[in-house]
Parts: sequence; structure tokens; C-alpha cells
Amino acid sequence: MAALPHPEPLSGESYSAVELSLANDEVILLEQRRLPREELYVRLRSVEQVAEAITTMVVRGAPAIGITAAYGLVLAASSLAQLESAAARLRQTRPTAVNLAWALERMLARARGTAASELLPALAEEARAIHREDVAACRRMGAHGAELVPDGATILTHCNAGALATGGYGTALGVIRAARDMGKRVRVLADETRPYLQGARLTAWELHRSGIPVEVICDNSSGYWFGRGEITLTVVGADRIAANGDFANKIGTYTVACLSHLHGRPMYVAAPWSTVDLACARGADIPIEFRPASEITDIPFTEQAGEKMASTPAGRQRWVPEGVGVLNPAFDVTPAPYVTRFFTERGTFRPDELRSGA
Ligand code: MRU
Repeated sequence: MAALPHPEPLSGESYSAVELSLANDEVILLEQRRLPREELYVRLRSVEQVAEAITTMVVRGAPAIGITAAYGLVLAASSLAQLESAAARLRQTRPTAVNLAWALERMLARARGTAASELLPALAEEARAIHREDVAACRRMGAHGAELVPDGATILTHCNAGALATGGYGTALGVIRAARDMGKRVRVLADETRPYLQGARLTAWELHRSGIPVEVICDNSSGYWFGRGEITLTVVGADRIAANGDFANKIGTYTVACLSHLHGRPMYVAAPWSTVDLACARGADIPIEFRPASEITDIPFTEQAGEKMASTPAGRQRWVPEGVGVLNPAFDVTPAPYVTRFFTERGTFRPDELRSGA
């Protein structure tokens, strides 16, 4: 197992999705596409490399990409003009998670109030503050949410909303960690989360590593487990929460929310306040990212960023007939009536109470 190449990781874990080097000249990312097979860190020295890493999902998860973008701006901290063009490039990378735009705006606001000679230390400080605050928010929302987790619960989660998707600790997985730390017995069913397999690869990796019982299930089998009465509650993260309580999260979340509703089980959403977008009135206004067809047509991870990872000679194996198109929205929107509670660092909210947290 590779060591995290940072002497003082802000994640609070022995691994970290993202860190800034002590010299403020490199963004260090855990190469999440290599998990669980390999724990590999990459060091990025330019805004373009950071933008490419976000687009190709070396790092992913709403809070983690916000922190990565903030650290990315540190690499462009020579002038305000350069920062603005770097922010424009980073803003294009992934449209759905509002944490990205939120972090960039916060960094630019800090830059506007700073003398050119002080930009680098000021922006490094601001980005690290964003990172630290995210970990603290995860711990607080985890503590709020864990109160509502019964002892002995079987918890369904979708995608990865853990330490790997945040500054550290996690949102949905933070609730699960906090419940376990309160002495509650919990068992997790992790949706594999097609097509990128964040549940099978990442959620399973980090929960197993933390000693929390986890079993991976196919996305299309959660109805089976609800039907058998096995699922106590569902908890997921979010990429953007609209003012009316509709929220976007990884594709498939809406299906899970419908099943939770139909079976009378709570549907909890854990997210930092930076995910709440009160300027966005309703879910229909949230931009939904569509990702490359190859994520669906090919056996996952056969070809990523030009590297051959499959055992096939060609390094690529298509399982959808040539000439057939696919549709690959990366997120869906769950309407507010399907949400039981939002857990944030500011407290616990029903969808109609969200605005009171502002
Ligand atoms: O495409 P991804 O892997 O970036 O999608 C991640 C999710 O949908 C997460 O559930 C969400 O970002 C919340 S992470 C705390």
C-alpha cells in the first residue's frame, strides 16, 4: 500500500482524495480510477492538468472536486487575470456539482481583496480553509445524521459519498461512520453504481478499510432487498440541492428514492451547505452532465486517459454492438417529496425547511 505523499494530510485519514503540497506548488490526487487495485498518488503542477483530472474523474465527488479546483487556482496565483482565466477553465469541467463553482467563487473573492504580491500565500490559506471546513462539516452532519440511525440498521447507499468524495470523513458515509462510532451496529449495502462503479470500487474500499460491514449489490437488485424488508434506511450524498428541496445526485439515486418511498423507509441526504444552491429554484434548473458513451459501451476501466488497463490484447472490450448508441446522464434529480431529511453541518432539515438554514 502506497503512503500518502503528504506529511500533514488535512483529510484526517491515512489516505486523501486531494491535498496541496507543503510548497504550494503541486496538487496531489489519489488516482481513484486505479482503486481498489492500487493506491497511487499523482502530482499535478498546472491548472490544465487539474482540469483534466477532474473531467476524467481521477478525483470525483462534489466536495472533493470543489477542493481540488480551489487548490488548482493556487497553481495560477500570479495575477488576478490569470486566476480568472484558470477559474473559467476549471468551471467547465463538471457542471452538476455546485461545490465546484462555489469554491472557485470563494477563491476569486479572496484574490480580489489581496495584493498581487500576497496572492500565493493568501490563496493557499483560503483553499486549505475550504478543505478543513469541509472535513469539519462532514463530521458535524455525520453526528446529526447518526442520531437517526437505529442500532442494527441495514443501510443502503448509492455511489460514493465518503472520504474519497470529500475533504475527508465523508457525507453519507460520514453518517455511517458516526453511527458506528456511537456504538451502533450497522451493515451497509453498497449499490455498485453503474457505469463508473463508485459503489463497488470506492465505497466498498473505504468502508472495508474502516472495518464497517459492507456488501456490494447490483444497482438493479435494491428492489429485491427492499421487498424482503432488509433495508432500514437509505443515505446518499448530493451534487446540488435546489431551494425547493429537489436534489441532484449520481444517476440511479432517484430510483432508490422511489423504492424507499414505496416501502416506507427513510431517504436521507447528507451534504455540506456548499452543496445547497438557493439561487436554483427547483431540480429542473440543475444542469445535468452527460458523460462519454464509452463508459457504458465498454467494460469499465478498459481504457482510461489513454492507458490500457484491460487484460484484452487491444486493451478495450466493447459489449454494446457497434453502431448502437447509448445515453449516459451522470446524475438524476430526486424530487423533494421523496426526501425525509437533509443532514448538513447547520443541522437537519426537511425539504420545506431548507431556506431557514441560509
Ligand atoms: O460522478 P461522481 O462520482 O462525481 O458523482 C458523485 C456523487 O454523485 C456523489 O454522491 C456526490 O458528489 C456527493 S459526494 C459527497
